[in-house]
Amino acid sequence: MEILDGKKAALFYKNKIAAEVIKMKEKGMKAPHLAAILIGNNGASETYVAAKVKACEEVGFHSSLIRFQDTVTEKELLDKIHEINNNEDIDGYIVQLPLPNHIAENKVINAINPKKDVDGFHPENTGRMVKNLPCYIAATPFGILKLMQYYNLESTGKHCVVLGRSNIVGSPISILMARDGNPGNCTVTLCHSKTQNLKEITLQADILIVALGKPEFITGNMVKEGVVVIDVGLTRVVNESKKSGFELKGDVLFEEVSSKCSFITPVPGGVGPMTIVALLENTLKAARKEIY
Ligand code: GUN
Repeated sequence: MEILDGKKAALFYKNKIAAEVIKMKEKGMKAPHLAAILIGNNGASETYVAAKVKACEEVGFHSSLIRFQDTVTEKELLDKIHEINNNEDIDGYIVQLPLPNHIAENKVINAINPKKDVDGFHPENTGRMVKNLPCYIAATPFGILKLMQYYNLESTGKHCVVLGRSNIVGSPISILMARDGNPGNCTVTLCHSKTQNLKEITLQADILIVALGKPEFITGNMVKEGVVVIDVGLTRVVNESKKSGFELKGDVLFEEVSSKCSFITPVPGGVGPMTIVALLENTLKAARKEIY
């Protein structure tokens, strides 16, 4: 069994991005600029956005953090989005999700200029992804592809089973693993909460991608020998013995499953660091106007 070390792969890619930024500056171009809009004080969102800002510093990008209280109105948020759409200094930006309940997520995502949509959440980018056209691919699926590339994992002709059909992970990764590309060319089965005989299907997986948000859901008896497991789960589970008061758990019961795997991502330190790299890479593409 080999660990798919997301931290190590992320460092490799970040060094490459940092070298590109130096080259851009040598040519007299400005450094890429990522902005993040963060609403409220959700603990996980604070952590994710702080990691994104820190990663920008590490590779030499500019970053701007724009904060709102969770009482912000939809109009105030949309006004800020229009302002950023027209701010030539900002190459790409994200609106950290989830949003407060009184704000319509779709309205917000649809207002983002697709050219600056480095999260790849706008329907124009999703549509382009489905049609295999140049686009920003959302950070989690893009990070998974990059992790598989880093480890030269062969996917052609394999049965890839995806658990979870979210807009952010399950749905896009199922499309990406089926399309003609590398990674890709898989036979894909997309499972969700209404799937019957789940274990029968997971037992057929050569590549199992789990994005359910259900801690330790996948047990040893649900996978076959030699499977590649990508665990996207990252749930805070209360643990009084930890300083933070919680522990991060993946969707896979690592102790049982890992001994049957050829490759497996740890949690934390697997997919998580790769999502940050994916966002940086999309921002670099935005600064160079590579997609649009
Ligand atoms: N919330 C959880 N994951 C993400 C992400 O990749 N981007 C944004 N904007 N919000 C998130």
